[in-house]
Amino acid sequence: MNDSAPVLAIDGPSGAGKGTIARAAADWLGWHMLDSGAIYRAIGHASGAKDLDLSDAEAVARCAATTRIEFRDPGDGGDTRVIIDGEDATDAIRTETAGAAASAIAALPEVRKALVDKQLAFRRPPGLVADGRDMGTVIFPDAAFKVFLTASAAERAERRYKQLKAKGLDVTLASLLHEIELRDARDASRTVAPLRPAADAVVIDTTGQTIPTVVNRVLAVVQTA
Ligand code: DC
Repeated sequence: MNDSAPVLAIDGPSGAGKGTIARAAADWLGWHMLDSGAIYRAIGHASGAKDLDLSDAEAVARCAATTRIEFRDPGDGGDTRVIIDGEDATDAIRTETAGAAASAIAALPEVRKALVDKQLAFRRPPGLVADGRDMGTVIFPDAAFKVFLTASAAERAERRYKQLKAKGLDVTLASLLHEIELRDARDASRTVAPLRPAADAVVIDTTGQTIPTVVNRVLAVVQTA
């Protein structure tokens, strides 16, 4: 860890485009990247694989503390691989089941606490783009740059629908919208690290905006600061 490495925190709800925008910003800046959602998904997935009761905070926190999560660049320009205890779980953590498990375990304070150091370790020179829900509020409150990305629930559902359809999955727009609304409510109402913009975050609504436009607006936060 290096406390002096600059951090660009990008927070916001599922489907606001954080992953795509964070990746593009990290590539442009030449900074490291933390996909904190993948860490919650990995622990949700690992807990499920171990048949843990997802409401058993102590057992899931133990799993969070002992599970090894590695991010590997495949080196061919493809997606970062997520390795859990030595096994490639890149696709497994992206399923709706893993997403629901992640959302459930993310509401447990003991689990969030067990994952703090894993996330802080990503802060290394020349800088870090941190993508999540509480990057600017809890994990890196001293981040020099903070952005909160939002988009209407309808647009986020539509983006997710297109992604899943492209993968050949059988989903309906209505069910995705329902799930997104439920997850938003759960992520925003939990007592620990609820989803909200940091007081000093720049809020950017991505509804109807192209990816390059949003990337430029985010980079402008870094360049004009
Ligand atoms: O961004 P995502 O969809 O991959 O996140 C999966 C879940 O993890 C989501 O329900 C919210 C939770 N999460 C969190 O609570 N805190 C973070 N910093 C990142 C994700």
